[in-house]
Parts: sequence; C-alpha cells; structure tokens
Amino acid sequence: MIKSLLCALPLVAVVACGECGAKKSNCAVAGECEKKECVAQCTKECAADAVVENIMTRRSIRKYKQQAVPRDVLEKIMECGINAPNGQGKQSWEVRVVENAELQDEIKAAMAAVGGERAAGCFYDAPVWVFVARDNGYDFSTIDCGLLSQNIMLAANAMGVGSVCLGSPVRFVENSPQRDAVLEKLGFSDGYELCICIALGYADEAPVAKPRNAEKVKFID
Ligand SMILES: Cc1cc2nc3c(=O)[nH]c(=O)nc-3n(C[C@H](O)[C@H](O)[C@H](O)COP(=O)(O)O)c2cc1C
Repeated sequence: MIKSLLCALPLVAVVACGECGAKKSNCAVAGECEKKECVAQCTKECAADAVVENIMTRRSIRKYKQQAVPRDVLEKIMECGINAPNGQGKQSWEVRVVENAELQDEIKAAMAAVGGERAAGCFYDAPVWVFVARDNGYDFSTIDCGLLSQNIMLAANAMGVGSVCLGSPVRFVENSPQRDAVLEKLGFSDGYELCICIALGYADEAPVAKPRNAEKVKFID
C-alpha cells in the first residue's frame, strides 16, 4: 500500500532504477515498486538516457587493436544498419563487409597506387572494412547510405566496437588503376556505386569529442 502510494506521488528524489540500476529522478522506489507503470517509466527513462549517451560517446577511432570482432556481433551491427530509415522503403544500399586480410591487402595496394602511404593506411589497420554502395538510380540514395552508416556506427559503439566513417577510400578506389578489379571483388549490383566506407574494430585510443557549433541550430518561433 505504502509502495503504491509512493508510486503515485510525483517524487523528484533521485533513486536507483529497479531495472538497470541507473540513478533516476521521478521514479520512486522502483526497485521495490509493485506498480508496473512505475518500473516501466523507469525503464523508458533509462533507455532514453542510454541512447543519448551512446550518441554522445561515439567518436571516430583511428587506432585499433588487432583483435577480430566476433561474427555474431558484426551481424547484429549490420542488422541495425539495414534498419535505418530509407527513402520510399527502397533500401537503396548494398553493404560489403571485408575481414579477409588478403582482400584487404589487395584493396590497400590498389589505393596505394593513387595515394601512396596515406591511401594504404586510410582504414587505420582496422580488422573490419565496410563498403557501402548507393543506387545510382535513386536521388536520395546517398542519404539512405548515410543513415545506414550512422546506424552501423552507433550500434557498434553500443556494443563496444569502435568505428570511423571514411570518405577517402571511395576516392582512392575510384581513381585507382585497379578500380574495376576491386569493385568486381566487392560484387555490387549493376547501377550501384561506392558511396562511403566504415572501419570497425576494438578501439586502441579514446579520443575526446571535437567541439560542435551550437549556433548552427536555430529555433524559429
Ligand atoms: C562523410 C564523412 C567522411 C569522412 N571521411 C574520413 C576519412 O576519410 N578519414 C578520416 O580519418 N575520417 C573521416 N571522417 C570522420 C570525421 O573526420 C569525423 O567524423 C569528424 O572529425 C568528427 O569527429 P567524431 O566522429 O569523433 O565526432 C569522415 C566522416 C564523414 C561523415
């Protein structure tokens, strides 16, 4: 009875969420609460906090441990990728995940042919290289690919996997004399062209956030 009453009160005391243990306000004795809604509210708040924290803690990683990312983790990350919003439900992307060191070396050599050392190192020796292609027949496909990529990077961050979004390999591959050979290996469908790449792997650095310009956002009343 007392517990139920406490639930009904709009308490602002900071207590621990019964579901995840996080300190929550507006959630009275959730750990012991008999009222389902109270715990549910707590869970919701914790989930929202977790999403915000995940977004705010993601950073571009440019130094990786030489440690493979388990296949089930990569599959979950990719599943999150393809669940991104996409124009007209077209899913106008194709994704290739390359872990094979021999193929990575081939692509590295192809990129080095145009950009030398810098190009060869543009994936920062990450163990997983992701290639995202856009559908040339759809004008918003680049947006679709960007949203998919962000889902991949955020899912990765949530699962403790580092990432960096990479535009440079697209240019290096496109300008390489071995372009066709590389693209054939990646096997994108006709009408698709390389749009963006992502390196994935366990981080061996912890960079701080670069400052953002809040002035870019204006609320128009
Ligand atoms: C479209 C795009 C292309 C990028 N290309 C590269 C790249 O080629 N090499 C690189 O090191 N970082 C690249 N980045 C990562 C950005 O430099 C990075 O996101 C930015 O500096 C903000 O840092 P943060 O991701 O840690 O917040 C790219 C990011 C985007 C969105």
